[in-house]
Amino acid sequence: MESNKMFSEFNFLEATLVKETELFKDCTNIVVGSGDLNADIMFVGEAPGKKEDLTGVPFCGAAGKNLDKLLSSVGLKREEIYIANILKCRPPENRDPKPEEIMAHTPWLMKQIRTTKPKVVCSLGNYATKFFMALGDVGGMKKMPGITQVHGKVQEIEIDGLKIRLLPLFHPAAIIYNRTKLTPLWEEDMEVVKRECLSSFEGS
Ligand code: URA
Repeated sequence: MESNKMFSEFNFLEATLVKETELFKDCTNIVVGSGDLNADIMFVGEAPGKKEDLTGVPFCGAAGKNLDKLLSSVGLKREEIYIANILKCRPPENRDPKPEEIMAHTPWLMKQIRTTKPKVVCSLGNYATKFFMALGDVGGMKKMPGITQVHGKVQEIEIDGLKIRLLPLFHPAAIIYNRTKLTPLWEEDMEVVKRECLSSFEGS
C-alpha cells in the first residue's frame, strides 16, 4: 500500500534505513515526531500504535491522552517540547520492537537528538529507557535495569557527545493497564518532571 509515508523534516539516509525494515512494508505512515525541534525537553516513546500509524502523529491515541495529562500537570504544551519514538513504524499488533528494528530506526532518533540538543530527555517505558541507558548500544540494552527500578531517577548521560539529563518514566500506556499500582508512582515522578523542566528553562 502506498501512502504519504511522511518525512517532512528528515528525508535522508535515516528514511532509507527505515524503509529497509519489514515494519515499513506494513505501516501506513512513518511517524517521525512532532513539536519544536529546538525544544529543551524531549519525550521519547516506544513505537507508533494504530492511531499514530493512521495519522502520522505520535501519541495521538489512548496513551497520548495520558501524556497530555502529564504535560498539562507540569504546565507544558506539546508545541514546547519534541516528541519522538524509538521505532518510526508501527509493529504488527503493537508487538515489542526487535533489536534489528531498533538498530535500523534509531539513527533517525539520534539525528532528531543531534538537531534538537535537548537538555532533558524523558524516556517513556522500558525500550526508550534502556536505549538511552545503554547510550545507544542496542546490544547492551538487555543488560540495563527495567523501568520499575529506575523510574523517576534522573541520570546524567552523554550520548553522541551530548550531555543529557535522562528522566525515565513509566510508559503512559502502562498507566492505563495498571492504574491502581502505577498512578501514585507516576504522580511522584511528575514532581521530578516539574523540577527538571523548571531547571532546564532557568538554564536557557
Ligand atoms: N506509544 C508509543 O510509545 N508511542 C506512540 O507514539 C504511541 C503510543
